Formats: sequence, structure tokens, C-alpha cells
Amino acid sequence: MFETIKEQPADKILMLMQAFREDPREDKIDLGVGVYKDADGNTPIMRAIKAAEKQLWEDEQTKAYTGLAGDPGFADVMVALVLGDAVARENVAAAATPGGTGAVRQAFDMARMANPNVRVFVSDPTWPNHLSILKHMGIETVSYRYFDNESGGVNFDGMMADLAQAGKGDIVLVHGCCHNPTGANLNATEWQALIELLNQTGATPMVDLAYQGFGDGLDADAAAVRMVASSVPECLIAASCSKNFGIYRERTGLLMAVAQDGGAKKLNQGTLNYLNRQNFSFPPDHGARLVTYVLSDDALRAEWQAELEEMRTGMLSLREQLAGELQRLSGSDRFGFLAQHRGMFSRLGASPEQVETLRRDHGVYMVGDSRMNIAGLNAKTVPILAEAIVKSGV
Ligand code: LMR
Repeated sequence: MFETIKEQPADKILMLMQAFREDPREDKIDLGVGVYKDADGNTPIMRAIKAAEKQLWEDEQTKAYTGLAGDPGFADVMVALVLGDAVARENVAAAATPGGTGAVRQAFDMARMANPNVRVFVSDPTWPNHLSILKHMGIETVSYRYFDNESGGVNFDGMMADLAQAGKGDIVLVHGCCHNPTGANLNATEWQALIELLNQTGATPMVDLAYQGFGDGLDADAAAVRMVASSVPECLIAASCSKNFGIYRERTGLLMAVAQDGGAKKLNQGTLNYLNRQNFSFPPDHGARLVTYVLSDDALRAEWQAELEEMRTGMLSLREQLAGELQRLSGSDRFGFLAQHRGMFSRLGASPEQVETLRRDHGVYMVGDSRMNIAGLNAKTVPILAEAIVKSGV
């Protein structure tokens, strides 16, 4: 019977990761998959995580099941990290999930339970796996204008015009910070206007927050999601711990369903528990417990924040160096947006042919839409990349 299954397209980001591994060139540069790398190209286990792991090994007495929503302590620390005191805790239902992707998947599932004809409005462009999951689930997507190729910023007027078409029963998917793949983000005034529009149309926002702490800082990166959660009747939030805690393979995430009407929490919590049970039963615990240790212990938390801050400021200075180098080599300011973007990614604005030239002739690997992982660079490779970009005619 399996022969009746159609072959599925391979994930472009993961394919690129494979192609990079197979390239024998020693001076190749990996700007592909969204994994943080230090100046030596390593993805280190963060110091606080390593310490928490040691502590957990000492403390843990059982591997018996947790609850369907995971350990409640994890939900508490993560809700506080993401939402601060923007929303009363009793208004937030939350469940641990296998990574941020698991939270995204469960959020779509919950939206479909609420409205079998739900449409999900997605930014053009968005993380390709958003589209892939929605297609797999048979959920209709409507794309809204987002990135302005000319300026490298957000086409806010286009976005607002397109989102005016969303209505009650629809989901508007937004990236809470560090937009993936473009790196271009709304400012506070634009977020406010978006929230007003959402309240006018009655569409429900869903915030994907995968890079908190990678843009302008832990609280600054959560400002938008806090504004959204405290200003709309209901919203969904998918938070990932993969990047900011560096625990990619532990699959650690949290789905939150926020309702201003606290009475809705019981039903929402039951729905999240039910969805976990149907899809994978109990969520992974190891990474969640490490995060709980780190966020609940003052010393570990300070250590974690310091390291996260080193990572964030390191990426910012790479952005500035690259923008500066490109300005010097091209004699134009048109790459200035690279320093304005935030997070791990920037969309360069190169054509697919130029992306191919960069890979073939210069060993530079970026996603086909010219998304670059800034963390894949270091002080030595920035000038090499800048030269390759200019030589490839971008
Ligand atoms: C990315 O966008 O590269 C990351 O989120 C990794 C992934 O799973 O695609």
C-alpha cells in the first residue's frame, strides 16, 4: 500500500544543511539552517544549561511520566519569561510541546478544532515549515504582504491592507520578534496599529516566538507579544527554547492559549492536554526541566542571560561589520538594512541565480530566497562574504 503515497518535497533548509556537509571545500561558509554558531563555528551547550544538566543528574530520581501538559513548573517559568506580568497567570492555558514546531502544530490543530474552516494568514515570506505544516493539515493559507524587497524593511501598508481581509474565525500568524526569514520587524507603533486592526476584524492572532533574546534583548523581544496578549480577547503563542537556551535537539517548547476571560482557561487547558495526548501523549521533559532549573535559580539565570547577551551582541556586531564592508566594497548604502534587521536572519535580496553563484563559485551556503544566518559568520569570514556578494552581482 505504501506505493500509493506521493513522494514529498524535501525540506529546503534541511537539504541545504546536507549539501553543506557534503561540500569538501575547507573555506565554505554555512549561512543556512537557523542554528547559532560561535566564532569558531561551534554550537556550544550554554554554560547554565551544562550546570543545570549536572544538577538534574544528581536530583532526578525517576523517569516516570509527567502530566500531559508537561511539568507545571516549566509552564510557570516560561509564561513569566514570555508574558511578564502583561496577562494574569490564570488567563493562560499552557502545555509543553516538542520544540517550538510542536507548539506551532498544536496551535494550528486547536484553531481547526475551534473552526474547521479556519484560514491562516501568513506573512510573505514566512518560515517555510509554517506553510508545509498547514498544507499537510489541509488548512487554507492566505498570504499577506510583508517584506519590501526594495528597502529591506516591512511593507506595513500592504500588510495592513491584506490583513483587513481577515475576519472572526481566522488566524493571523505573526512572528513575535526576529522575523524568519527576513529579519525585518514591526516597530511599536506598527504593532499597536496591527492590534487595533485585529480587534476591528475579530481575527485571532497567533504569535510564533522562536528567537526571544536574539534581537534587542529578552524583554524588548517580548514587548510585542505582551502587547498583543494584553490587548486582544484571545491569542495563541508558540514559544521555542531551541535557540535562546541552545537546546535544539531536546525539543523544548510551550504552547499558550491566552483568554482575557479567565473562565475560558479550564476549557483551553483541557484542549491543550487533549491535543498532546492525541498527537504524542506526554511532551519531552529533559529540556523543559533544564529550562526550569535555569529560570528558577538566580545564579544560573544570570549566567544564562549573560551568555545569551554575548550571543546577541555578537550577532549585532557581525551585522554592522557586514553592512560596513558591503558599503565600502559596493560604494552604496543599499545594504544598510542588514544592520537594521534583528535576530539570526536577514534576507539579502539576491536572485536565486545569484544565490547559486554564491554557493558554486564561493562556497557560500544560504537559503534559496537569500536568507542568511548571520550567526554563521565571524570576523574573518565577513569580508570574504562581502566580496563574494559584490562579485556575484547582488
Ligand atoms: C530555521 O528556520 O532554519 C530553523 O527554524 C530550523 C528549522 O527547523 O528550519
